[in-house]
Amino acid sequence: YLLGIDIGTSGTKTVLFDRDANPITAKTFEYPLYQEQNGWAEQEPEDWWNAVVQGVQAVLQASGVDVADIKGIGLSGQMHGLVMLDENGEVLRRSIIWCDQRTGEEVEDMNRMLGAEKIIQITANPAVTGFTAAKILWVKKHEPELYAKCAHILLPKDYIRYKLTGEYATEVSDASGMQLMDVAKRTWSDEILEGLGIEKRLLGKMYESQDVTGEVHQEAAALTGLAAGTIVVGGAGDNPAAAIGTGIVSQGKAFTTIGTSAVVYAVSDRMALDPKGRVHTLCASVPGKWTVMSCTQAAGLSLQWLRNHVCTPEMAEAAEKGVDPYEIMTAEAARVPIGSEKLIYLPYLMGERSPHPDPDCRGVFFGLSAMHERPHLIRSVMEGISFSQWECVEVFREMGVPIEDMMICGGGGRSPFWRQMLADMYGCSVSTVQSDQGGALGAAILAGVGAGIYSDLETACDALVRKKDSSEPNMAANGAYAKYFTLYKELYRTLFQSFK
Ligand code: XUL
Repeated sequence: YLLGIDIGTSGTKTVLFDRDANPITAKTFEYPLYQEQNGWAEQEPEDWWNAVVQGVQAVLQASGVDVADIKGIGLSGQMHGLVMLDENGEVLRRSIIWCDQRTGEEVEDMNRMLGAEKIIQITANPAVTGFTAAKILWVKKHEPELYAKCAHILLPKDYIRYKLTGEYATEVSDASGMQLMDVAKRTWSDEILEGLGIEKRLLGKMYESQDVTGEVHQEAAALTGLAAGTIVVGGAGDNPAAAIGTGIVSQGKAFTTIGTSAVVYAVSDRMALDPKGRVHTLCASVPGKWTVMSCTQAAGLSLQWLRNHVCTPEMAEAAEKGVDPYEIMTAEAARVPIGSEKLIYLPYLMGERSPHPDPDCRGVFFGLSAMHERPHLIRSVMEGISFSQWECVEVFREMGVPIEDMMICGGGGRSPFWRQMLADMYGCSVSTVQSDQGGALGAAILAGVGAGIYSDLETACDALVRKKDSSEPNMAANGAYAKYFTLYKELYRTLFQSFK
């Protein structure tokens, strides 16, 4: 057996898989998000650890497996979060997590300290508010006494590794989102660290995602019920882990995930970067490969907003009858033609990251007419979210990263209507996978490679990850969408100054 643990934003999911990657038992334990000020987002690392302990205990109890048969553990988790520990390994403050936006000034500081060009050249990304480096500088500036006590800086899943094994370590895929690495060389960058005044001794040891980083120690074994000595591999950030769980391990393959935010993620044999910073470049969780990744901040969130504020009475009725409100909304959207009778939605409810790194922009309905009804609003929101993914795919293609085969996961992937819309826009097939365990599965497959059960990631994914439902592109629909897509792209260019 293999264990995959995914430290998410709403909760931690622990899944036990057999050696053929079939899930045996899955348990999720939730925890709060603290938002003390507008734009701040923090979580308590101890909450993650408690959720892991409870999750592992629950999975072991429900499955009844002999713990000696668990051959490895893989960790996956929310990226970019800052965990600071003192010299005794005690947590110094709540973690400032990925979606926290307090670091606008620190991003400017970074550009001044190092030069914007150098940052892109070495870290493969322009200075980003959400990445960890800016968060470290924020603590250094605003909480100097606390910073002086900091002996270890870790990412969320790497804190769990520390609690399980006692090792201070990370791996290339998640660490690329800290903005402290030389992403081409897959190591910490002395130049960036010196330029920002961050000491290298604070950072963990760097591994490839599939490498063994340590073993479960006695104390963690006693708490969780795991066998002491069980290996823990590097694992990966949640998106690079989901890539493995959906078989995205070689060039030409990509996935789209539509959850609260939406991500398009593609693998590349060489390090491709976008000098304009419209998408992120990271080390892949596959040795010798890199990825490009986009992030649309308010994807599912846009539809949820519409559900909560526009579609309320029907949705409440549906929920009472046990019907998924999104199914009703999708069925309404399907009655409206492509382009929603020229109602265009820009999904910037939370500012945007890709392909417009712009914290100031906001959502737009353009072209609203008296003839539009609720189904038009729903369809235009789904189209606007999808246009954003398409615009990111265009950036990937412009960067020379080919996309031939697209997988889809997350809540949005469950809707055949939405899948078809994306296939028509991208002009390639869009498929779901048999197992929807995403990050936890990817982490478990990495553990399987680390434990020597699988020879390498590509062979493992070929054997273990199966496609389920595929939507093929309809090129007539592609042409029809293209007309509105041109207008969609023009709207941001016309409006962006007005958001300031
Ligand atoms: C990726 C990102 C999010 C988090 C969510 O850059 O910020 O996808 O990893 O967990």
